[in-house]
Amino acid sequence: MIGNQAQKLEELVASSTSNEVKKSKKTRFVAITSGKGGVGKSTISSNLAYTLSQKGLNVGIFDADIGLANLDVMFNVKIKKNILHVLKGEASVSDILIPITRNLILIPGESGDEILKYADMALFERFMQEAQVLDKLDVMIIDTGAGIGEHIQMFLNAADDVIVVTVPDPAAITDAYATIKTIATLRDDVGMIMNQVKSEKEAVAVFEKIKKVADANINSNLDLELIGKINEDSKVSTAIKQRALFAKEFPSAQSSRDIEAIALKVASKLERNVLVTSNDSGLSGLFKRLMGHF
Ligand SMILES: Nc1ncnc2c1ncn2[C@@H]1O[C@H](COP(=O)(O)OP(=O)(O)OP(=O)(O)O)[C@@H](O)[C@H]1O
Ligand SMILES: [Mg+2]
Repeated sequence: MIGNQAQKLEELVASSTSNEVKKSKKTRFVAITSGKGGVGKSTISSNLAYTLSQKGLNVGIFDADIGLANLDVMFNVKIKKNILHVLKGEASVSDILIPITRNLILIPGESGDEILKYADMALFERFMQEAQVLDKLDVMIIDTGAGIGEHIQMFLNAADDVIVVTVPDPAAITDAYATIKTIATLRDDVGMIMNQVKSEKEAVAVFEKIKKVADANINSNLDLELIGKINEDSKVSTAIKQRALFAKEFPSAQSSRDIEAIALKVASKLERNVLVTSNDSGLSGLFKRLMGHF
């Protein structure tokens, strides 16, 4: 059933692309994921998106796991409708978009399985047209939710960068490793962020431990890269309790300097001034990739 729908959508995407001549920015899709839940994905996604937007980049942040309290809480906004409502024809893309700052937009998502189930050809066509309002995005951060379900794999496949977040406790490390092992069957590059560490030294030590096990047991040329770390910092939980972003409220805190370093690394991978057709950028680009068009 889902396979059949996906194929129809692929055909549709292919046909809408061929008519498209308008040029848009090339969006870089960065998926933030984890093995264990509660390790800081939404905290990192929201603060990273904010920090990137403060650098003048146009940033979208896609909540792929909206059922649970996540990015809406981080940004202190109320979400009434999401991508699924658009696909069902109950809302337009611009109805669901939530502007956070001048160049940061929250896109309330849904799990991929649901998206495929409800996607109807005619609605999807309209959706692809409407989604072009987001074709100026330089980067889209995707908060995937924990675990490695089928729909999360779709996002991990579609992204340019996949970043696995973990904290340094043994259970989280084990789950992060299992996630990396699964991702290695989909792609050969995985980034990691060590969250809630005491120091750079601890972050590197935990990363090296995971890398050693991965090198010995994962049968591929896996390129595992430490993107950065974020210290355990009471300012982070204080900000969350206030439904605020630590990067905004406490810009000189260690955690904010840490996210700044991560943002610089992510930004260094962006290909500036590259133009593509609008169906390859923003939300349309993400959906096109989710349907298997690269
Ligand atoms: N660097 C940090 N320092 C202190 N506390 C932190 C830090 N990062 C995260 N936390 C705490 O961890 C909690 C969980 O973070 P968050 O909600 O971002 O995790 P998540 O991975 O998105 O969870 P879920 O899997 O449920 O979506 C936060 O409420 C916050 O209190
Ligand atoms: Mg979350």
